[in-house]
Amino acid sequence: MQSIVFFDSGVGGLTVLKDAMRILPNESYVYYSDGENNPYGIKSSDEIKLLVTDAVKFITDAVDLKALVLACNTATSVVVHELRQNYEFPIIGMEPAVKPAAELCDKSRILVCATERTLREEKLERLISGLMIQDRITKLSLQGLVSYAESGIFYDDSVMNYLNEKFKNFEWDKYTAVVLGCTHFIYFKEQISFLIPDEVKVLDGNWGTVQRLKQLIVENKEVGATALKFYESKNPRSLNTIKPYLDYLEI
Ligand code: DGL
Repeated sequence: MQSIVFFDSGVGGLTVLKDAMRILPNESYVYYSDGENNPYGIKSSDEIKLLVTDAVKFITDAVDLKALVLACNTATSVVVHELRQNYEFPIIGMEPAVKPAAELCDKSRILVCATERTLREEKLERLISGLMIQDRITKLSLQGLVSYAESGIFYDDSVMNYLNEKFKNFEWDKYTAVVLGCTHFIYFKEQISFLIPDEVKVLDGNWGTVQRLKQLIVENKEVGATALKFYESKNPRSLNTIKPYLDYLEI
């Protein structure tokens, strides 16, 4: 059976895999984390391009692929276009939920949170200018959350202090939405919602990515065939390595 491969620099993409397993329960999945090279967000585009193309080359040799989900906003920003030119199988990337955020209200501000690299890439700029909402956008790097997620620290005081510090100067009454443009940040959705007013919606691109995946593949209807394998930077690993995350996400 062909597999759907989820790729991320680390554990962030598991938050997307979780939705995929719920919506497409009869597929065979491979989760590939480039844990040895995490975090991507502080690296140059060239470095990320090399790492991702090399990993995808490994994946195509090791796995019979049905589709590849780049469950990483940073990798998507830098290299999705190039990968699509080189491979025949469907490649689905992440898109920060800026459009749904803009549709919530036509005036108020939108806070786009992502990694350092994603915030600097042209792809995000094009998305924002295509919607003609440049003057409503504030960008904020929450790169520190990537390390917290990799260490399995989700509810610690240090996380809340980090977020409080990042959010302290915002006039929230001017905002309608916070967009989480990094898959690692999804682990902190509840914590972020707790720190900001209820009226400000916290949005992410996970659902959209899984819907796109569903459109592009022929679904397996054989009930109960779900399978999951895990690789870390080219090494097959036991699922026990990511068990705390799978438990946290209730996979
Ligand atoms: N999970 C990633 C993203 O969505 C990458 C985080 C990182 O490695 O810095 O951007």
